[in-house]
Amino acid sequence: MPSDAKTASLLRSTPEGKCAYLDADVRDPQKILTQAARTLDFDRPIGLILLGIMGQVSDDEEPERIVAELIDALPRGSYVALSDGTDTSEKLKVAIEAYNTQSANSYHLRSPERIGSFLQELCLVEPGLVKSADWRPDPGSADIAHDQSHAVGAVGQILG
Ligand SMILES: C[S@@+](CC[C@H](N)C(=O)[O-])C[C@H]1O[C@@H](n2cnc3c(N)ncnc32)[C@H](O)[C@@H]1O
Repeated sequence: MPSDAKTASLLRSTPEGKCAYLDADVRDPQKILTQAARTLDFDRPIGLILLGIMGQVSDDEEPERIVAELIDALPRGSYVALSDGTDTSEKLKVAIEAYNTQSANSYHLRSPERIGSFLQELCLVEPGLVKSADWRPDPGSADIAHDQSHAVGAVGQILG
């Protein structure tokens, strides 16, 4: 069975809630929105999760435009979570350069400010844009040390 079909077969809608899997490229946000509208009610708040995904989009492919297109389609009250790797570690930059020579999907580290700007129109919930390891960690969890964390993330709500 192809892996997409396997993934889809794990999802089961129930009377309490529908779910669906769609096979799409994040660089085609309109396809995602059209297909998502078959399952989601766009008159009610929606949660959009973009974790480690916008880093897969190069500057030439306009990541800001893609995020804006997705956000613009969501109703007021929706939440968007976004996080990505930052260009704040020389070691990580070297590792990603090596990864990009071998991977079909390249990854693009960006500054924390640039990553935060993807959600600039939203009202960020506490604690705002922080290192991902510092975003409401579970009590007692210290599996990633603060200074070893080179990703930032935030959750914003669409109020406008
Ligand atoms: C860094 S992983 C993050 C996975 C997951 N969101 C997480 O936080 O654990 C990036 C994922 O994006 C997928 N991906 C890469 N380029 C993509 C694209 N253009 N459209 C959709 N998904 C893509 C990769 O296959 C991979 O599963």
